[in-house]
Amino acid sequence: MLAYYKSRTEITREFGVSEGAVRNWIRKAIDGKLSLQLIELNNTQYILKNSHNFNLIHLLVAKGQKFRPNESRLTVTVPDEVYNILDETQIHALMADLKANKNISFKFAYLGDGSKNWHTLMRQYDYGCNQKDAYLLKQSLNLILDHYNDDTVFNIIDIGCGTAEPIFQFLTDLKSAGKLNSYTALDISESILKLNKEVITAAFPTVPYDNIVADFETRSLQRKIFQNSYLGNTKTINLALCLGGTLYNYEDYIISLYHIRDALSPLDKLIISNPFLGNDLDNYSFDNYLGSDFKKFINWFPSLLGFNEENCSEIQGYNEKTGFREYHIVMNRDVELCFEKYQTNILFKKYDKIRFCLGRKDTFEHIQNTAKLAGLKSSWIIKHPSSNSVMYMLGKV
Ligand SMILES: C[S@@+](CC[C@H](N)C(=O)[O-])C[C@H]1O[C@@H](n2cnc3c(N)ncnc32)[C@H](O)[C@@H]1O
Repeated sequence: MLAYYKSRTEITREFGVSEGAVRNWIRKAIDGKLSLQLIELNNTQYILKNSHNFNLIHLLVAKGQKFRPNESRLTVTVPDEVYNILDETQIHALMADLKANKNISFKFAYLGDGSKNWHTLMRQYDYGCNQKDAYLLKQSLNLILDHYNDDTVFNIIDIGCGTAEPIFQFLTDLKSAGKLNSYTALDISESILKLNKEVITAAFPTVPYDNIVADFETRSLQRKIFQNSYLGNTKTINLALCLGGTLYNYEDYIISLYHIRDALSPLDKLIISNPFLGNDLDNYSFDNYLGSDFKKFINWFPSLLGFNEENCSEIQGYNEKTGFREYHIVMNRDVELCFEKYQTNILFKKYDKIRFCLGRKDTFEHIQNTAKLAGLKSSWIIKHPSSNSVMYMLGKV
């Protein structure tokens, strides 16, 4: 079955163009004046979803934007709450990213009150990821233990720890087996860490608990993570985990992997979980991610900045070029976003797209290639038997 755009609106929203422009392209393609690939169904022409069309449409859009007239613009002032929850470096990074890339990093969704949305999503919504990760961790316990001597104990380092739902049972199992030496939660969000601490210290009062505020995307974790004395000490191993597809919320995930690898001693391991790509069309389906709790969680930060129904709408799409499934807002009028405190105004024009969330699915080949690029190698890979979820353990080459 070929993938195609079901309506002109779908294209106008995904690529930020008017319906008239799409109508024109189709007409030109029928007349043989444009190499856009179409499919005819019930006497109607539809545009195919493939890389040829994706690239061509982007070229057409870039060409069209040069001639677009200025419209009356709306001024939106960023509220003080943003300055309270982001530090100065993060504000500068946000402004630069918006200006240069029309991108809002997804990590800001977890700061401040965003942590409550995440916690609600984890508790109330049958999010699935938790249960899949918890299941895969249960299956992997023996695979992990097989790598070490019987007397080995583990420092668990939960990178992007969230509110600990998927790892909870794993910690319980390690503890019962007498293998849990300590738990360290590492996260960009202080408010997430607070929630994490409440959950873990209540359930495991005797297990040493530590937490670290750090951004794995921007800095090496080498100095942040306690290094067990590797020299001769093969009994206490750091087992780092990065669950819930977190690594792949960033386009430059190889850099993040470098930052994490820096913190691993030769015997330490890193466990990653992510959605798995069943077949190519799965990249276009966003069904799992349409629940209202999920929407509330991902939309919170863009709306805090001032993007709302009045000035933009939301779209999801698969970017063939980067291999990422992406969420964008599309401006429905010209908007000037003012960071008054930093005397910076950023102008977005009608139809501009701003990306605010992304993820990518794994394949076995992609896992091996990624590990290789990051100077790591895989010890094992397991796939969930009934769903598209995968977990794998990497170590230093
Ligand atoms: C998708 S959630 C996963 C949470 C948990 N591991 C799970 O599977 O339920 C991502 C978590 O990583 C944290 N996070 C996101 N980006 C981060 C970054 N660049 N550096 C550190 N933590 C980050 C978020 O605050 C959040 O707690």
